[in-house]
Amino acid sequence: MTERPRRLRTSAGLRRLVREAHVTPSDLVQPLFVREGLVEPRPIATMPGVSQHSEASLRAAVRAATEAGVGGIMLFAVPEVRDEDGSGATDPLGILAQAVRWAREETDRPIIADVCLDEFTSHGHCGVLSADGRVDNDRTLERYASMAVVLADAGSDVLGLSGMMDGQVRAVRTALDESGHHDTALLAYAAKYASAFYGPFRDAVESALDGDRRTYQQDPANGREALREVRLDVAEGADIVMVKPALAYLDIVARVRDAVDVPVAAYVVSGEYSMVEAAAAAGMLDRERVIDESLTSVARAGAGIIATYWATEWALAWPSRSS
Ligand code: PBG
Repeated sequence: MTERPRRLRTSAGLRRLVREAHVTPSDLVQPLFVREGLVEPRPIATMPGVSQHSEASLRAAVRAATEAGVGGIMLFAVPEVRDEDGSGATDPLGILAQAVRWAREETDRPIIADVCLDEFTSHGHCGVLSADGRVDNDRTLERYASMAVVLADAGSDVLGLSGMMDGQVRAVRTALDESGHHDTALLAYAAKYASAFYGPFRDAVESALDGDRRTYQQDPANGREALREVRLDVAEGADIVMVKPALAYLDIVARVRDAVDVPVAAYVVSGEYSMVEAAAAAGMLDRERVIDESLTSVARAGAGIIATYWATEWALAWPSRSS
């Protein structure tokens, strides 16, 4: 026998020495939800361990993530009132802009605010509707452009473009540049699939959506199409591209990593989180090891940035787990 691959697995020290993929706290982004009008955090039934935050508990969660060494904070907000055009999204004193200000006061880490209308529209779609009830791409771009400027003004370092409208990166980049926000970076949800794994998130933001997002999010069967979306977003000015969901789309993460030279992010979404939590609560698997393995697999596939609801917890435990 000339090759004995097991030789490098004989001790923990050797295994650590030859390990290829590493996750560190600074690679992780912590998504947080804030709900207008709450005085106490409110647990999200379908996401055990995750809550909608009040102002005070959001501030505490941002501080905790920062102290744990997490690399970034991603914010989603749930407004009290919704309407057809999602006007709360462009209100400078709206809940998301306010959450950015609160978070800004608590952290020096990059804040990533979500630019999308779905939390703010009465119909729950990511864009505004035309008279025939379809999502109107180009009118939605105007809304995203205004929303982006409001969130950049509030102090967001990065904007997450999650709406999957054609031309959204260029529209937002142009609006930011025209308003002097040259340094506000764009994280494009370049390859975002129409996924059932977002189920618990819809609960988390009390989504009003009746129907689905298949006319704008991607068909889960398509891989090459993701590369096209990514190429367009980079050409339009995306600074970072993201694949979402992550675990069910690791092949896409790997292909995107090979195709572009901007940073690649992946989002371990609500359903991917809740599956593990539910199975662990039922005693079916070892929670910590499965979380480790899941995040490591995303890094191995090629994502340098991982958005995960486990970010703070994982970062806190990291010194002891990294052996
Ligand atoms: C839309 C948005 C969604 C998620 C993040 N941004 C939901 C959707 O597209 O329906 C899902 C995140 C998750 O499931 O964790 N603004």
